[in-house]
Amino acid sequence: MVNTAVLVSGGGTNLEAVLTAVENKTIRSARVALVAADRPGCYALKRAELHNVPHLCLDRRSLGKKCFEAALKKAVEEHECRLIVLAGFLSILSEDFVRAFEGRIINIHPSLIPSFCGDGFYGLKVHQAALERGVKITGATVHLVNEITDGGKILLQKAVEVKDGDSPESLQERVMREAEHIILPQAVEMMAAELQKEEDV
Ligand code: GAR
Repeated sequence: MVNTAVLVSGGGTNLEAVLTAVENKTIRSARVALVAADRPGCYALKRAELHNVPHLCLDRRSLGKKCFEAALKKAVEEHECRLIVLAGFLSILSEDFVRAFEGRIINIHPSLIPSFCGDGFYGLKVHQAALERGVKITGATVHLVNEITDGGKILLQKAVEVKDGDSPESLQERVMREAEHIILPQAVEMMAAELQKEEDV
């Protein structure tokens, strides 16, 4: 079983999808050992509490980037997490942090990378940009995290149709339901199974 840390900043629907998949054993190789938020008051922390998962809030604004990352690294190590999942986590991690967990951090992004990704593309802004460009198909991507924002190796993608009359909110809701909440648990299981295999060798 691979101890996994899920990092969050917002509502936590992707966290919920992962926790549900662990509970119904769709995810068999990982357990969520830690949920960490980078800002106080996000509903994702409440979800962790409701699922009885260890959780903590590290306020990046008041701590500053350096102390925030040091505390985060310490928490991840203390909970013996070998996999880190960014599930709607909006802080950009430094090169040093990414290097310390190279190949073991994954992120969910709400578009088909390389479209609508990189610095400044997060949350509703991604869907706004997709609607402005008039694409007919969008979707979600799970990728490995490297030093380039949304630039790491693509692990899974799922397409979603854009419908006439979509608003950023309605598109976001469909992309979450039809893509993100499906491929994120799949990617967690895929990565955890791989890490477990390495351990068994
Ligand atoms: C999700 O749509 C996720 O893909 C996006 O933020 C939302 C968080 O929702 N992440 C990014 O835009 C990262 N670049 P959630 O808190 O309900 O999972």
